[in-house]
Amino acid sequence: MNLKRALRRNLHALIAWANAPEPPGRDFSRDLSAYPMLNALVEDVARMHGKAQRAYYTWGMAHAAYLAQNLNIPRITAIELGVAGGNGLIAMERAAAAIEQTLGVGVDVVGFDSGVGLPPPQDIRDLPNLWAQGDFAMDEGALRARLQRAQLRLGLVEETIPKFLTTDYAPIGFISFDLDLYSATVAAMPLLEAPHDRVLPRVQCYFDDILGFTFADFNGERLAMREFNETHPQRQISPIYGARFYVPARFGNANWTEKLFMAHILDHPHYKDYDGLVRHPQLEIDQMTNRR
Ligand SMILES: C[S@@+](CC[C@H](N)C(=O)[O-])C[C@H]1O[C@@H](n2cnc3c(N)ncnc32)[C@H](O)[C@@H]1O
Repeated sequence: MNLKRALRRNLHALIAWANAPEPPGRDFSRDLSAYPMLNALVEDVARMHGKAQRAYYTWGMAHAAYLAQNLNIPRITAIELGVAGGNGLIAMERAAAAIEQTLGVGVDVVGFDSGVGLPPPQDIRDLPNLWAQGDFAMDEGALRARLQRAQLRLGLVEETIPKFLTTDYAPIGFISFDLDLYSATVAAMPLLEAPHDRVLPRVQCYFDDILGFTFADFNGERLAMREFNETHPQRQISPIYGARFYVPARFGNANWTEKLFMAHILDHPHYKDYDGLVRHPQLEIDQMTNRR
């Protein structure tokens, strides 16, 4: 029975994959939103790199770069919080290269990690029932040998993030939160307090540790998120509701669609600017006709 279900699911995924939009030469000009174009980009990168490519990173980074493109911002920063072995950071590098080529927006990739695995959980909010000190330790030499362009900032985020925020970085557009611990996630939140010229008006966020297990509103990443929202009325993290309907069809059942959030920088001077997400073809035709 289970085998049957698995076969059916795989067949469904295969059909969705085969029906996915084809690369280059496609015309997205009549679409009513930017989703088909951005999803085609996600599919292209997935096709190029196979299973190792994290579609949720490509999706969030592509949306961030597209917002930057519409706001005439030439470069953004994409951040992974918690790097461990580095497969995620490498997936980010690949996504960055493809996005730069397609959207013409530069993407700097930055990874933060202690370098020596998890610090000790401090109290029950850090889920000590799940995590232990030293979990996910990194082989720094092996990782550096694989990296092509990403910056690796090693040390506790409690120290490395305040330091990073004093440097000359491009506006933050995408953050993957994967530090596991509540205390570490709280320490990373100042990234979302960045000044207007260092952050996009909306930041695509991915929270890895929020589904299943013993994750709840009162521990881990969800608690860090809730407390941030309670203390930052002008900077609000919200789920991207129904995200599963807005990613490429074959990922519609993937659990990561429930891990996609958006940090709304409500005090950003460009928050209200047109972001290109909903397209207005008739308006564009009218403008062109009037111009003639
Ligand atoms: C689950 S792992 C990250 C996995 C990685 N994102 C991936 O997809 O392969 C969590 C990482 O968070 C890092 N971490 C947790 N708390 C930290 C802190 N306070 N400062 C720096 N790194 C921390 C640990 O070193 C660990 O490597």
